[in-house]
Amino acid sequence: MKKLEQLYEGKAKKVFKTDDPNLFIVDYKDDATAFNGLKKGTISGKGVINNRVTNHLMKLLESKGIPTHFIKELSERETLVKKVTIVPLEVIVRNIAAGSLAKRLGLEEGTKMKRTVLEYCYKDDTLGDPMVNEYHIYAMEYATEAELKLIVDYSLKINQILSEYLADLGIELVDFKLEFGKTTDGTIVLADEISPDTCRFWDSKTGKKLDKDRFRHDLGDVEDAYKEIMKRLLTE
Ligand code: TMP
Ligand code: ASP
Repeated sequence: MKKLEQLYEGKAKKVFKTDDPNLFIVDYKDDATAFNGLKKGTISGKGVINNRVTNHLMKLLESKGIPTHFIKELSERETLVKKVTIVPLEVIVRNIAAGSLAKRLGLEEGTKMKRTVLEYCYKDDTLGDPMVNEYHIYAMEYATEAELKLIVDYSLKINQILSEYLADLGIELVDFKLEFGKTTDGTIVLADEISPDTCRFWDSKTGKKLDKDRFRHDLGDVEDAYKEIMKRLLTE
């Protein structure tokens, strides 16, 4: 597989074309941003950890029937994935109130939600990824009803699989963000990443935050938190 020209550079990853028109290579960076790019920094070793953690979880989800873009880990930071057109939505799944939900509804961080909460944001950095609902999604044709139904089904199933898996490793899955893509044949698959950048992970015993909130809010021990997640998931 030949890595060809760079197609796109995001805040945490680069995407490259390959000599196969249906395959891309993603390359994970150590760069970190928060608050829509307002805060910038580096988390040393993050790219390696997010690549490995994402691939580990994508393989787990595939084994449980969730289609993903994952094909093969190529190196510490690089992974071969299916070429997809990203559905321009961030799907946020919440089990426990934290972050923007706690703020918006005036909830104490850590409040367990009585049922799973799903939110959608329209992916547009210049607009600051505004929250949207089903009406916006259909009116703006961000996704069809059939596509969104599949995305919701997958998201809830992913929440169940990951929550159970992580609970066994002493990690509480507080909330997380998913992105889906459409392959060249129109199939909806899970894309992007599942990592401490895109999830809130709390230690089940101590409540210690083991995710990007340590960077967002200058809590210290950022690298150690990412390493701890990798250790728990990948040392089996
Ligand atoms: P929030 O509480 O800031 O809305 O974040 C909810 C979850 O989504 C949290 O696990 C972090 C993740 N997230 C991203 O992955 N990317 C983003 O741009 C934002 C705002 C949140
Ligand atoms: N990654 C997003 C940004 O740069 C937000 C976040 O994860 O907090 O703004």
